[in-house]
Amino acid sequence: MGVRIIGTGSYAPEKILTNQDLERMVETSDEWIRTRTGIRERRISDKNTAASDLALEAARRALDSAGVDPSQLSILSVASVTPDHTFPSTSCILQHKLGAPVTCACYDVQAACSGLLYSLQIAVSMLKCRKNARYALILGAEKLSSIVDWTDRSTCVLFGDAASALLLENDGSDEPDMLLSCILGADGSHSSKLCVPAGGSAMPASRETVEGRLHFIRMGGQEVFRLAVNAMTGASRTALQEAGLTVDQIRWIIPHQANKRIMDAVASRLGAQSEQVFVNVDRYGNTSSASIGICLDEIVRGGLVRKGDSLLLTAFGAGMTWGAAVIRW
Ligand code: ACO
Repeated sequence: MGVRIIGTGSYAPEKILTNQDLERMVETSDEWIRTRTGIRERRISDKNTAASDLALEAARRALDSAGVDPSQLSILSVASVTPDHTFPSTSCILQHKLGAPVTCACYDVQAACSGLLYSLQIAVSMLKCRKNARYALILGAEKLSSIVDWTDRSTCVLFGDAASALLLENDGSDEPDMLLSCILGADGSHSSKLCVPAGGSAMPASRETVEGRLHFIRMGGQEVFRLAVNAMTGASRTALQEAGLTVDQIRWIIPHQANKRIMDAVASRLGAQSEQVFVNVDRYGNTSSASIGICLDEIVRGGLVRKGDSLLLTAFGAGMTWGAAVIRW
């Protein structure tokens, strides 16, 4: 039984925050941000918008693109580092807003920027082992502006808000799986290098944690950079090998959109041409779990992929987590 991606959707809030806007907020420059990261602008939600609201728009767009009704969903997952609440899950909140049925399994995935790849493998497996499950909707949804320290120039220039959704179908046919290979990995020994220190059970919210700005993203940028390049390159090589493909047979490489320099380094180590790499970090910044789905949605809606094309998806994020997947469109 083959599982296929039959719909894609993405959504980013209308408000654009440019590098020039950031120049007025912290000591930085458009030139520094562009040359160090490739980012020109990012989208920012208003204060009344939660991750589930961003997810709702992306979900509707993915369902509409395939002509599937929310009532037909069997699986609904949201990957996010900025869930609406610690609990209940954002997927349960989304289920209610979207009108998905109570027979739909709803769960959140916490794998930071690798969340959509983790979700993909989980959903493909669930579609195969859950009786009568035909449609799974998997989302990455992030309101990163809510955990960014807007006084810290080393991180606040990097992130943006957005959501994306992929609709998967198991139609029970003999068609081969779309997912040719999927490699997932993690190394918790580096967990403190990219984290939000407070707000969980290890360091509950208190006056001290708020005054110490411990509810915001902390990152050791250079080390994360090095780890990201190594992990994404290694996982991509293994995913290609398991799929029986070489990099020149890949139509699009879709890396997590964290930093243009990371993407360039991964592409160069894989021996890929720069034209193979899909890049939109300049327009959205780093949207964590949403980024790969936004790229896929833009590729599909732009008519940039044909049946039979092979795509390589790869991600790296806090945890540390990473992954790579090869998809036959
Ligand atoms: N504007 C101007 N100067 C800045 C800024 C800024 N926004 N931020 C830092 N600087 C300064 C630093 O203070 C430092 O100054 P100093 O030399 O006087 O001390 C100088 O620029 C160099 O700082 P570095 O941190 O060494 O700069 P680097 O070239 O490493 O770039 C960056 C920083 C862009 C964060 C880079 O390390 C990076 O991209 N790392 C990976 C981060 C990432 O992608 N994280 C996400 C992956 S996982 C996920 O998505 C959640």
